[in-house]
Amino acid sequence: MMKQAPVVACFGRRGVGKTTLARTIARHQSRLVVWDYLGEYGPLAFRTSDPDSLAEYLSWARGRRFAAARFIPDKGTVEEFEAFCAAVYQSGNLLVVVEEAAAVCQASYLPPAFGRIVRQGRHRGLGLLWCSQRLNEVSRTLTSLTDVWAGFSLSEPGDLQALALRCGREYADKVAALPRFQWVGFDVDSQAMFTGTERLKTLWGAPAGAWPETVKEENSHLKARHVREPVTAVTRNRKFRLFPYLR
Ligand SMILES: Nc1ncnc2c1ncn2[C@@H]1O[C@H](COP(=O)(O)OP(=O)(O)OP(=O)(O)O)[C@@H](O)[C@H]1O
Ligand SMILES: [Mg+2]
Repeated sequence: MMKQAPVVACFGRRGVGKTTLARTIARHQSRLVVWDYLGEYGPLAFRTSDPDSLAEYLSWARGRRFAAARFIPDKGTVEEFEAFCAAVYQSGNLLVVVEEAAAVCQASYLPPAFGRIVRQGRHRGLGLLWCSQRLNEVSRTLTSLTDVWAGFSLSEPGDLQALALRCGREYADKVAALPRFQWVGFDVDSQAMFTGTERLKTLWGAPAGAWPETVKEENSHLKARHVREPVTAVTRNRKFRLFPYLR
């Protein structure tokens, strides 16, 4: 069971390295599910575009130490996203990565099943890492319940203002001045800035640095593989029983 399950934001303007950072963090987690909007999360143990198939995998993975799935939506509609969120909530005990949150979660509308993850996910061991180019265009509920921020360069005044309101002017100014590919963190609890990827990787209870050798050995017989025929593969074929990103 994930003891801490914070909500973390990764934001910044186009092409500054958000997904690259989120992927690095994701690969260090033991139980992971990704709303992989643009199909950028490489080989994970399980991949599908079908919510029922995702639910089946997550149900199979319940209670297992390692699980890693990505959901690549067909169209990326809010309906698809809601089905994804419902499957994830049902399962629990996962880090949920949501790419391009602004596409499914506008300023004035938080889809209900996603809202349940944001508001109550902690009680089900659901951590959240959401990524967005824009802060002004995502739900206020989401930004106000975000515990930790990882900010890349932002230039849009409305976004900087939203950030300043939430995290303070000092942090917003710092973020505005960042060069491309650099980020600064902000912890809402301590109201303090930080840097260093280790801090982000360990937020949901994963060990700092590499995973212990004993854990690696436990999983060394498992090989990374895409699962291309989802539904039946879950029950018929155990090839996806693995955590390919264990380092
Ligand atoms: N630290 C880095 N150093 C050098 N290149 C990087 C770094 N981080 C990312 N890149 C490169 O920059 C490009 C954009 O990275 P990435 O896709 O992570 O950005 P993004 O912020 O998610 O973009 P988008 O806003 O389009 O989602 C990629 O080609 C990536 O390989
Ligand atoms: Mg991206």
